[in-house]
Amino acid sequence: MKYTFPPDFVWGAATSSYQIEGATRTGGRGPSIWDTFAARPGAIKDGTNGDVACEHYHHYPHDIALMRSLGLQAYRFSIAWPRIVPGGTGAVEPRGLDFYDRLVDALLAAGIAPWATLYHWDLPQPLEDRGGWPVRATAEAFVPYADAVTRRLGDRVKHWITHNEPWCASTLGYLTGEHAPGRKEPAAALAAAHHLLLSHGLVVPVVRANSPGAKVGITLNLTPATPASPSPLDAEAARRFDGAFNRWFLDPVHGHGYPKDVVADYAAAGIDALAAVRAGDLETIAVATDFLGVNYYTRHIARGGEAGNAPRVVEEPGPDRRTDIGWEVHAESFRALLVRLATEYPPQPLFITENGAATHDGPGADGRIVDTRRVRYLAEHLEAVAAARAAGARVDGYFAWSLMDNFEWAWGYTQRFGLVWVDYATQARVPKDSAHWFRDVIARGGLG
Ligand code: FCB
Repeated sequence: MKYTFPPDFVWGAATSSYQIEGATRTGGRGPSIWDTFAARPGAIKDGTNGDVACEHYHHYPHDIALMRSLGLQAYRFSIAWPRIVPGGTGAVEPRGLDFYDRLVDALLAAGIAPWATLYHWDLPQPLEDRGGWPVRATAEAFVPYADAVTRRLGDRVKHWITHNEPWCASTLGYLTGEHAPGRKEPAAALAAAHHLLLSHGLVVPVVRANSPGAKVGITLNLTPATPASPSPLDAEAARRFDGAFNRWFLDPVHGHGYPKDVVADYAAAGIDALAAVRAGDLETIAVATDFLGVNYYTRHIARGGEAGNAPRVVEEPGPDRRTDIGWEVHAESFRALLVRLATEYPPQPLFITENGAATHDGPGADGRIVDTRRVRYLAEHLEAVAAARAAGARVDGYFAWSLMDNFEWAWGYTQRFGLVWVDYATQARVPKDSAHWFRDVIARGGLG
């Protein structure tokens, strides 16, 4: 079978500021919640942080040459708020803007379209000190920051993503405490989610005003839920998971407000999920956008309880069907998700803004990196995109996560998602087999 994509399909790779830049004390950058969190004993699996990471702040010309050698047409990166407004509010740091200015110019000179994400989790620490995302003032502070960035880069950056994965920023940051700032406060997590979405709605018009003709959207991480058995308990567990994880974000950005069944679930647990919502907020959040960014890695197998359940028909996968981070490989759920988005939500272009696999494969004796499992993962997921397109889903582009190995949040450097290997001791970059494979896919415009 041949899987081809239209000639204008966008092929790219993605990264984020804290995960690759390093240089956390350079150019006037202020502290972010990830600097603070990573310093907390036990917060990061290997005790590391993003102080150095891939030193992309210094090596970006080389990294862009690498992107060019892979034939990437687009590069999704994020802008570090603490480089632009180190205090969270107030003075803009020109050296921060200068860095991204140079990056954008170098990308354009290499023929690579810059796709900029305004928030990929590195909140300025001073804003967290004043309450973080659970307070409304943080959403308001996002506006002048986004204004400064889009004023400076809006003439050249023509694709903007307001937020990356507000589920992670709110739930992992403020409910489970696995991510910065490491708080475990259920009510605060819901307020954080609301303010993240609100800030999205607030900045879309700012981006449009400063970047004429640009396309703007939000990126959500969507994890479909599969009931483990046909039992009503498992179906109910799947509904709940899908509601809190996917619909809680999809529905309001599409103008449907927060899903009522999930609001009721929270109420039953004694939580007023709408406590932070003010009149007009839902209209602000429902602002028209040009595309939806979709990050997909895995599905969730939902099980509601043991007693009375029908036997499982969906077994938890063994290690052979998981990537090294433990996430199940399940491309069929990806296809079904994309078709669902096209049928249940207003028609709009979808871009896969992240998809990829963690595998540990490193250089062999000959220096070659044979990451066969990553190639297989990417191929299966691209087949899923092609199948979804054939079924009517309008997917207009695909960004592999990630261009290169990097700081994987609470996992530190223990997980490698890159198409390109990074030797952290020397900062050498070595394209893996998957990088060569992806280059050929792009050159061919699809899977052969
Ligand atoms: C996503 C994040 C990205 C990276 C991948 C593996 O949730 O957006 O930064 O960590 O997971």
